[in-house]
Amino acid sequence: PLTPEEKQETVARIKELLKEKDAVLVAHYYTDPDIQALAEETGGCVADSLEMARFGRDHPAKKLIVAGVRFMGETAKILTPNKQVLMPTLDAECSLDLGCPPDKFAEFCDQHPDRTVVVYANTSAAVKARADWVVTSSMALELVDHLDAKGEKILWAPDKHLGGYIARETGADMLLWQGACVVHDEFKAKALNDMKALHPDAAILVHPESPENIVAMADAVGSTSQLIKASQELPNDTFIVATDKGIFYKMQQLQPNKTFIEAPTAGNGATCRSCAHCPWMAMNGLKAIEQALETGGKEHEIHVDPELGKKAMVPLDRMLAFAA
Ligand code: 13P
Ligand code: SF4
Repeated sequence: PLTPEEKQETVARIKELLKEKDAVLVAHYYTDPDIQALAEETGGCVADSLEMARFGRDHPAKKLIVAGVRFMGETAKILTPNKQVLMPTLDAECSLDLGCPPDKFAEFCDQHPDRTVVVYANTSAAVKARADWVVTSSMALELVDHLDAKGEKILWAPDKHLGGYIARETGADMLLWQGACVVHDEFKAKALNDMKALHPDAAILVHPESPENIVAMADAVGSTSQLIKASQELPNDTFIVATDKGIFYKMQQLQPNKTFIEAPTAGNGATCRSCAHCPWMAMNGLKAIEQALETGGKEHEIHVDPELGKKAMVPLDRMLAFAA
């Protein structure tokens, strides 16, 4: 970790570089609070994955620095092929993306040609290129409802929990790829029940990548932005939050007098894999942002094959138009 002096120097240098290079910082709610604060201070954005995509597409800067995970950088590049898209690290993956290899996914689609292919944004450019629609958790429910009303049967990938939640809510015919998020998959219902008993007046906020028995206990289910909104709108003073703990920065900033508690990730207090913090989101740091801006080097720049990018842009544009 940086000393306070080093942090101050790094932040000051990043601010200079953003101006000098005509760049803007686009950060996810799960990144380090210092990165979120910097994005806000410098006219960038802190957002959920849908808003990140829209902001990156519409902002006039020549370069985008995307602090998040790889699919977020790739989405930005697909939507704005003429901008340079840099990331603090290209090693920031996502278990949903990794769990859905494009060749296996194409086989799955080929076996079910009668189904409309809807994929979550947490996928590679190649998987998106095979899809009819891309969705994020903030608008997936509405889109599937819309497709179901037209009588369409859905092939869904990759998150089984989000897909299962949408199928239960909409009643749509959905065939699910069996992927999961390593962070949300760890929340434990029994321990959450015990925690709720200790805080009977708390509201439970749940990201829909969580297992069914966690979603069943929720007072609000939604994307990161929607959960932040729920924390402002619900009258409770205390919230138990089942998503990555990076989100606490924004929740606490907007509601300084409310109390936010992490939902439990292991029923018996034993070690868990991710403990409510995405290991890949955690790879984003101030020094890496500085380096990305300073060098613009190949270890930071996102490239998407232009032909693949053109194909992937179609369902992404549909997503943004539907969500508008
Ligand atoms: P949001 O679209 O809700 O920000 O989710 C992205 C994500 O990766 C959640 O784990
Ligand atoms: Fe992927 Fe889960 Fe990390 Fe989100 S929290 S980026 S879904 S691994």
